[in-house]
Amino acid sequence: MKNFLESCFVKEVSEITNNMYRQGWDERNGGNISYLIDEEYVREYFPKDVFLRDIELGFTADESLKNKYFLVTGTGKYFKNVIKDPESNLGLVKIDNNGHVAHLLWGYKDGGKMTSEFPAHLMSHAARLKVNQKNRVVMHTHPTYTICMGACLPTDDVIFTRKLWKSNTEAVVVFPEGIGVLPCMICGTNEIGEATAKKMEEYRLVSWTNHGIYGVGETIDEAFGLIETVEKTAQIYMISLGHVVNEIPDEVILGLAKLWIVKIKPGVIDE
Ligand code: 13P
Ligand code: ZN
Repeated sequence: MKNFLESCFVKEVSEITNNMYRQGWDERNGGNISYLIDEEYVREYFPKDVFLRDIELGFTADESLKNKYFLVTGTGKYFKNVIKDPESNLGLVKIDNNGHVAHLLWGYKDGGKMTSEFPAHLMSHAARLKVNQKNRVVMHTHPTYTICMGACLPTDDVIFTRKLWKSNTEAVVVFPEGIGVLPCMICGTNEIGEATAKKMEEYRLVSWTNHGIYGVGETIDEAFGLIETVEKTAQIYMISLGHVVNEIPDEVILGLAKLWIVKIKPGVIDE
């Protein structure tokens, strides 16, 4: 039996949390990640299910997630510490057959449990799996310029998307479907989870005004790359705010979409 601590899953999450902390996005316990791991891979490390303890979810997980395995960052845990001690800062859980309980297979060594944002994570996983069966990662973080930009704009998907696309030529190519925007809400609740998941039906990115961002993907790289591109673009937007002379013209955005063969969100650019 292989040691889960040495798995590519634990390694990837440890490395990306370390990277995100170094970007300055994840102060204190800010940010959380959940990674859906297919049972065939879990079995390489755990030939059969032996649970350490059960953790109540506090909501009912979607039917599609029952008996699924997730590697999840722990609540109150610091991203900067994951790489030093993955087994205390991460946990591998299996959602039970009723969708009410997470069975712990590995991790949370010091008695911890899943992120307080687990409702938003699981609801987002369920929403994205309906769009793309290969989606595996939900990532939440607090990137500074993205939060600044959200504070400076109306909470509107089209306006936020347009400002990003008009500030950096990479933006429309990386997220042609745009970005969803939620107003400031109380985090850690089922309500913000439901609102996030609703946006995830259309987008792989959702901005939480005054708080941070969610990104999803088939891989850690895809989710991180989406967030990284938004944050870089938001930095460009915020630094040049009030001084812009050369905004990306609409026809260049349309030309980029044509060149890269991406279908852009309608109604953002005049066609
Ligand atoms: P957790 O420590 O519960 O993961 O919360 C961090 C966070 O970013 C809340 O939105
Ligand atoms: Zn947060």
